[in-house]
Formats: sequence, structure tokens, C-alpha cells
Amino acid sequence: MSAITLATLNRLKTERKRFSMLTAYDASFAATAARAGVASVLVGDSLGMVVQGGSSTVSVTLEDMAYHTACVARGVAGAGKAAPLIVADLPLGTYYTAEDAGRNAACLMRAGANAVKLEGGAFLAETVRFLTERGVPVCAHLGLTPQTADMLGGYKVQGRDEAAARQIQDDAVLLEAAGARLMVLECVPDAVGAAVAAALSIPVIGIGAGPGTDAQVLVMHDMLGVSPGRKARFVKDYMAQAGSVEAAFRAFAEEVETGVYPAPEHCYG
Ligand code: KIV
Repeated sequence: MSAITLATLNRLKTERKRFSMLTAYDASFAATAARAGVASVLVGDSLGMVVQGGSSTVSVTLEDMAYHTACVARGVAGAGKAAPLIVADLPLGTYYTAEDAGRNAACLMRAGANAVKLEGGAFLAETVRFLTERGVPVCAHLGLTPQTADMLGGYKVQGRDEAAARQIQDDAVLLEAAGARLMVLECVPDAVGAAVAAALSIPVIGIGAGPGTDAQVLVMHDMLGVSPGRKARFVKDYMAQAGSVEAAFRAFAEEVETGVYPAPEHCYG
């Protein structure tokens, strides 16, 4: 079976078919996600918390990301199924300038990423354009941006008032125009998730952004019920029902595709 590409994900959006993304940080879980039919794997800097045991993503280094991206790429390659698209996070401080972003994105692409993700709004348009023009696909990340959560007053729902919602949508449109090929939208009211997905032609992947986005992503440890700390509203524990990790991943992929997840209890109205 052929690999899932950005073109595949774009076609799914055009055909109004939802798709799933899960984080993975090693070969075994990445291969399991591939076997379960998950369309995309995110090597998230959430590994700072769920793998390294830190309290945020800020301690994660480029070297950490390159190591885990290479592990995931090997797992996906050996899975013998339609290989999910691999997106890898550029960690905090590695994309303050376009040149830094270019050099550091190349490191993650060499490790096996198919696209790199970076967090932030309009101020990143030049960087997104720089990477895109040099052939590096970019996944933007708006709404709650964990690398800068302290500036946002913590892990809080974003875009609650009209001006903030408008800002998110304007930033999204600008980043798409700059060349972003995917967008993660985290912790916003349902209406904002749906409006951004409708405004963009690239796939919008929601996490706590309601049922109106084109796709859903969860942190693997959260949906397996093994994350430390408080469970966020948008998290559904798939392991509670499933008999295996692969069954939990498959249930997530199927529930996203059929629109069962997220249900109203996982959303910010
Ligand atoms: O690092 C990560 O896992 C993420 C998701 C929360 C989208 O960015």
C-alpha cells in the first residue's frame, strides 16, 4: 500500500472525509498506529511531558525531536501498511528566525519527517514562506500553543471572545496564504474550529476544537489513559473499552472518520 501524503490529506478534505492523527514517539507505537489506519503521526514535543516526565514542552531540544522522529520513521517504514504522514514539531527556540527554522527543519526532515510543525500566528508568515519556498511542508499550530502557554495564562481555551476568534481566523488565513499545508487548532470553541476549517482549503486538525474541523489529533498517552495529570475535557480514554493498544488506535481512527468523536462532552461550546 502506498504512503499517505499531503495530497492524500488534501483530497480527504475536498471529499469532506475526516481523518485521524495521533502522536507517537517510538517505532513500536508508530507501527501500531499505521496498522490501525491512523492517517498521520505527530512526533509532538508533548514528549517533554509524556516521555520525559517534564511539566511542559519547553525543555525539549532539537536533538530530542530528531531522535524520536527517526524512531517513528523506522517504525512506520516497517509497518507494512499505508504509511501515515509524519509531522514533527520544531521545539521552542528553534524557529525564531527563518534561517534557524530552515536549518532545524532540515534536521527533522533528514530524520524522516514529511512536514514540520511550528506554533504561532501572523508573525510566522515569513518563516512559513521561507520553508515552503525551500520545499519543507509546514503544519501551522494556532489556538492554545503549549510552547508559549505561560504567555497565554496557562493551558486555557483560546478564542472565546469575538476579537480573539477573529484574530485566530485571520492568522489562519495568512499562514495558509504563506504556504502552510496543514494546520493544528488547539482548544478553541466549536464555532471557531468550524469557521477556521471552512475558511481554509488546507486540512485543519483539531484538538479540543470541536467536530467541525477536518481531522482530529490526540496525544497517544492521553487516549490510552496513561498520561500523568488532569485529563483535559477533549480527551477520550479509548483504552477503557479496547482490548489492546491497536484496537484503541483503530477505534479512535474510526470514530473520527464517522464523526462519533468528538462528542459534545469533549467540546468547548
Ligand atoms: O506536541 C503535541 O503533541 C502537540 C499536540 C498537542 C497537537 O502539539
